[in-house]
Order: sequence, then C-alpha cells, then structure tokens
Amino acid sequence: MRYFKIIALMILGVLGVMQFFRPAKNINTSPEAVANDITKVVAVPGDVQAILVKACNDCHSNNTHYPWYANVMPVGWILSNHIKEGKREINFNEFAVYPIKKQLHKLEEVAEQVERDEMPMSSYRRLHKEARLTDAEKKALMDWAKQARSELMAKNPPAATKQP
Ligand code: HEC
Repeated sequence: MRYFKIIALMILGVLGVMQFFRPAKNINTSPEAVANDITKVVAVPGDVQAILVKACNDCHSNNTHYPWYANVMPVGWILSNHIKEGKREINFNEFAVYPIKKQLHKLEEVAEQVERDEMPMSSYRRLHKEARLTDAEKKALMDWAKQARSELMAKNPPAATKQP
C-alpha cells in the first residue's frame, strides 16, 4: 500500500511538471495569416470552404481552434505535433506561395487522401463529430480538388505545369 502511494505521487508529480512545458499555439487571426491563402490562386466555393474549415484547417492552416484538452500535457504535445506535420505537408493559408507544380501535386493528394479516408486523421474524426464527412461532402471536396487542378493548368503556361 505504501509503495502504491509513493508511485501514485510520483506519477502525479511528473504530470504536474509536464504542465509547465506548453507548446506555442498555432493561432493567428491577423490579415497576414491568410495573405497567401489558396483562395488567391483558385476558386473555392462556399460549401468546399466550409468543409475545409470544419475538417481540415485545424491542422492545415495558420489558425487552429483548440479543444480544452489541448491545455493538458502530454495531449497538447501530441496535438502540436500533428499541427506542425500537417502544416508542413499542406497549409491552405500558405498555398499561394507554393511553386505551381507543388500546388498541382498537393491538390491531387487532397483528392487521394479523402478518397482513401486517410484525411481527416482518424483520431481527429473520433473526437470531432463534424469532421466525419458524409459521402456527399467527400465527393464535393474531391470534385473541387480536381476542378482546381484544371483551373491551375489552364491559368499557367504548359511548361510550368508539366508533371515529371
Ligand atoms: C488532426 C490533424 C489533421 C487534420 C484534421 C487533417 N489533417 Fe491532413 N495531415 C495531417 C498530418 C499530421 C499529415 C502528415 C502526415 C500524414 O500524411 O499522415 C497530413 C497530411 C495531409 C496531406 C499530404 C499528403 C501527402 O502525402 O502529400 C494532405 C493532402 C492532407 N493532409 C489533406 C487533408 C485534408 C483535405 C483534410 C480535411 C478533409 C485534412 N488533411 C485534415 C493532419 C491532419
């Protein structure tokens, strides 16, 4: 019994210390945060934008809406890593600065990831009901990604858009 108490106190102590190490939050609501938004280079209809906002932007934009448990370590560290990795892969708020070939490739990936149910991440879907996309929402997102690719191809010179 005594050992149990000591171990429980040690675990509480470690958890307590963890709370002091908080990752910086991905929150930027200034106009500069969306200066290079994807909407600057391709049309994003309202229904598609709504899907991106509710299912993707927490990890793929400059502004995350954090749940309360993000304030509890080590959960906050895990979320922070997902956001960092997600933004590195594709940041819809920085999309306009990507070279055209990368833009085309990432749009292709959007359609693929959604089709394969790989995005939004399953752990995210479990905790965010609104991110469990219906078949119609998935189709809208995939159709848009394809449409946006065609739009970019048409707007840019063929040499710039040729895929390797
Ligand atoms: C909880 C965070 C999170 C959410 C929400 C999320 N993603 Fe991701 N996404 C990631 C992470 C982490 C990666 C990088 C690791 C990986 O590919 O699994 C990634 C990678 C990607 C990639 C790049 C794949 C590649 O190989 O180029 C695309 C495209 C993508 N996500 C699209 C989406 C779309 C579209 C949505 C919404 C329908 C979405 N993601 C929602 C975290 C997220």
